[in-house]
Parts: sequence; structure tokens; C-alpha cells
Amino acid sequence: MAKQFDLVVIGAGPGGYIAAIRAAQLGMTVACVDAASTADGKPAPGGTCTNVGCIPSKALLQSSEHYEQAKEHFEDHGIEVKGVSLKLDKLLARKNTVVKQNNDGILYLFKKNKISFFHGTGAFSSKVDGGWSIKVEGKDEEELVAKHVVVATGSTPRQLPGLEFDETTVLSNDGALSIPSVPKKLGVIGAGVIGLELGSVWRRLGAEVTVLEAMPDFLAVADQQVAKEALKAFTKQGLKIETGVKIDEVKTSSKGVSLEYTDAKGEEHKLSVDKLIVSIGRVPNVQGLNGEAVGLKLDERGFIAVDDECRTNLPNVWAVGDVVRGPMLAHKAESEGVAVAERIAGQYGDVNFDTIPSVIYTSPEIAWVGRNEQQLKKDGVAYKAGSFPFMANGRARALGDTTGFVKILADAKTDEVLGVHIIGPTASELIAEAVTIMEFRGAAEDIARICHAHPTLSEAVKEAALAVDKRTLNF
Ligand code: FAD
Ligand code: NAI
Repeated sequence: MAKQFDLVVIGAGPGGYIAAIRAAQLGMTVACVDAASTADGKPAPGGTCTNVGCIPSKALLQSSEHYEQAKEHFEDHGIEVKGVSLKLDKLLARKNTVVKQNNDGILYLFKKNKISFFHGTGAFSSKVDGGWSIKVEGKDEEELVAKHVVVATGSTPRQLPGLEFDETTVLSNDGALSIPSVPKKLGVIGAGVIGLELGSVWRRLGAEVTVLEAMPDFLAVADQQVAKEALKAFTKQGLKIETGVKIDEVKTSSKGVSLEYTDAKGEEHKLSVDKLIVSIGRVPNVQGLNGEAVGLKLDERGFIAVDDECRTNLPNVWAVGDVVRGPMLAHKAESEGVAVAERIAGQYGDVNFDTIPSVIYTSPEIAWVGRNEQQLKKDGVAYKAGSFPFMANGRARALGDTTGFVKILADAKTDEVLGVHIIGPTASELIAEAVTIMEFRGAAEDIARICHAHPTLSEAVKEAALAVDKRTLNF
């Protein structure tokens, strides 16, 4: 007989597993179905984020940063290290351990919250009395009946037309996180978040990295002053970045990949690399769901169509995370998961799309929330801007990491913070203050009046707020 649940969640990435936990906290009986497996066939909950995304990429960014620091920068601190060498197998094994700790952590959380976990593919069967019938195929074959369903099946990497990922030579994020030996020459198509983060990892480990980007502007999604500073820093580090390129031909052989492309001036080029990462965005994962059988509607871009509150066209079927519109970010997926569980429980769940932070974990880190200068100009909003360079921050000097700045954009009349853009050390952590202020619709003056500990990098945020009123104290 089919097992009955108040809620069945399909997908145990950050959208799905967090929705399951919140629903269980609210007293629902919950099942979560996830297809991902470890190399030895065990469940690997956590989705893209845990297995081939946020977590392993940050583990590699940290290890490669330590390596580069030891090789190039310890000496600045009077520390002489001799014979620094790379044990790539150990570095990759550590990354795998970090991933496993997260997989295990999620399985523990399922137990703790009395969530039934099913290892397999979840697909819609039919509408039945009391809800939806969901079929699980795989290790834990089962028929489930759910009053509510949350689809959180995430996304998969977009292929370059005609060029399949073999994960040996042509790599998606998956293969790019596990290259067994440092390639001499690495090509990256797409200077987005993955291209820059993983391009940085392999450059630090010794590869000669060329990044080819189609858009004429580098990091067009970021504030252009930040993008300019980033391009300068990455180029100085040795990343070769070309914008405005058109990829004409890609040929693979046992030796590697040869590319032909046209640059922004219309000149043709050839590039041979040992490995190629293709990071040109991701596509929603609706394969295997059997949504067609029950009439689950997709939008024109192939995402599951949802309203502002993550309701699909089917009663009591919801969808969250990468498989629906909006930024493909783990914290966005989590926020939607929590909000949906609360809505199912009759509570008021909310996700404020205006205050979702974006972070790029390169060195320097880049983080922002709200609108940038280009967007405010386009929207015709009168604003004031205040910036403060890390060069003038005592803690940054002590760290020996003074690249970048904090920029705050505030409404010209009301002083409400409209956007905060940071490039520099720990930007990923500093942005949290900006998110909080914006969530409370605070003003630049609010930040300026708050006592920030000294000496901290957060003082640069306070000084940028003072700069909005043209009264920095340390610059
Ligand atoms: P996913 O995490 O993709 O999870 C979906 C799960 O559903 C998967 O486990 C999949 O196996 C399972 N599934 C799919 N179909 C079925 C089915 N029919 N039945 C059962 N299970 C199914 N975001 C950040 O915010 N910060 C970062 O630092 C960051 N770094 C990233 C680095 C890389 C290299 C990549 C690729 C992504 C990164 N992201 C980052 C994006 C982040 O990983 C995604 O936004 C996030 O994982 C989306 O969560 P989700 O729950 O919607 O889907
Ligand atoms: P992306 O959208 O960040 O960048 C893709 C880049 O490829 C864009 O700059 C685009 O202009 C370019 N591009 C597209 N087609 C091209 C072509 N044919 N030739 C050359 N360039 C081309 O996507 P990416 O890096 O693949 O990442 C996917 C998603 O994963 C992102 O949406 C991001 O939200 C998420 N992610 C988040 C991270 C974080 O939060 N730190 C880290 C990594 C990924």
C-alpha cells in the first residue's frame, strides 16, 4: 500500500531538504526523495550545492588560496617556507571529505526531524484521492501519496551546442572540481561565476587559464566599477580574460581541445588547451519528473512555471530553487523552501527578491545586494554614492590585503540604502550587514551611526556610509 505523507519533496538540494525540515518543524509528516548517489551507490543528499557546487568549489578555493599564499605571500609576513609543493590527490580527497561530511549532515538532519528519506528518482504518477501519487524508482522503490508536493529538482549545466561534456576533456562544473592533474593549459568558456571561481582555483594551482566570454562587458551583472576593479585584479593574477568573443569551432582529440574564436574586433584566433571548462549557465532540471502526465506547466524558458509564492498550475504542487525563475543561488532556494513550507502550514512565508545577496568567491571576493549604478540610472532614480577603499582600512593593511572598496548607493532624498557593492577581503561576510540594513529599509546614516568594532574590515562599510554624506573619517 502507498505510504501517505502531508508533504513529499522531490529533490534534496538546499531548496528541497530545507523545505522538508521546515515542514517537519511545523508538524507535517514529510518524505524527501533524492536520486543523487555517491561513487559507491550510497545516497548523496544536498544537491548540486553539496555535491558539485557551493561546497566543493569553496573547499578547492580555500586549499588553492592557502597554496598560493604559502608560495607567494607568506614571505611578506617574514615567514620563509621552503619546498612548497602540491599534493593534488590529497587536496581533492579533502574536498571529497568535506562533501561527505555535508551529505552525512543532511541524512542526520532527516533523522533528527523524522523525515522519511527515499533514495531514487521521484516522478508524478497521477492525481489520487487525498493528493498526488509519486512513484519512487531506484534503491528505495515505493509508491507515495502526498497532500502537497514540493518540486526542488534543481538545474544541470548548459552545453555548448554540439559539444557534449565528457568530464575528461570537456568539463562541466562536475569534472572541473575533480581534474586529476593540474592541466598545463586550461580553457574556460563563460566568464560568469563558475568560470571565475574555478578558473581561479586551477590558475592558483599552476594552470595557464584563458577565459573566453561572449558579452562585451566583463561581469555585466555586477556594478561596472566593481567589474573594472575585478578585471584589473584577475588580470594581474594571471587569468587571461577576453570579452566579446564568438566561439566558432571546438574540436576535441586525445591531446585536448582546439578552439577557434573571433574576438571583439572581428579578428580570428586559435587556442589549444589540455582541458576545457564550459560554464555558460545552467538549465532547469525537469527530466524524469513525468510532469507531462499530470499537466505540470513549464514557462517559455523551460522552468517550472510558478507564481510569486512558488505555486505551480497544479493544486498543492509547489516548486522552488533552480528549477523556477530567479537567481540560481542556494540561499534563494533555501528561502523559497522555508516560505513554501510555512505557506502550506497556513503561515505567512515571504522571500524578498530585492535583498538576495550575490557573492563571487574569488580573491578579491565580490559581493553585492540591491541595485547597482547602471540599474539606478536606467530606472531614473536619483541617488548618492559613497565609496571607501580597503587601502585606507587598518585591518586590511594588517592582513596585507588592500585590494578593492565598499560602495554604498542611497536614495538622494530619503538616504535609504538602495544597493551595496563590495570588492575586497571577506566581501562575502561583509555583505550581510548591508542585507540586514536593506531588509529593514535603513538609511546610509543608520550604518554610519552604528558602532563598528575596530580594527575590522566592517569599518570600511561604515566609512562608505559616511562617504555617502561626504564625511569619511579615515580617507
Ligand atoms: P539542486 O541543488 O540542484 O538539487 C536538486 C536535487 O534534486 C539533486 O540532488 C538532484 O539529484 C535531485 N533530483 C533531480 N531530479 C530528481 C527526481 N526526479 N527525483 C529525485 N531527485 C531528483 N550557490 C550559492 O548560493 N553559493 C555558491 O557559492 C554557489 N556555488 C556554486 C558552485 C558551482 C560550481 C555550481 C554549479 C553552483 C553553485 N551555486 C552556488 C548554485 C547552487 O548550487 C544552486 O543554486 C543550488 O544548489 C540550487 O538548489 P536546488 O535545491 O534548487 O537544486
Ligand atoms: P553564469 O550565468 O554566472 O555565467 C555564464 C557566462 O557565460 C555569462 O557571462 C555569459 O555571458 C557567458 N556565455 C554564455 N554563452 C556563452 C558562449 N556561447 N560563449 C562564451 N560565453 C558565453 O553561469 P555559470 O558560471 O555557468 O554558473 C551557473 C549558475 O550557478 C549561476 O547562475 C550562478 O548563480 C550559480 N553559481 C553561483 C555561485 C556563487 O554564488 N558564488 C558560484 C557558481 C555558480
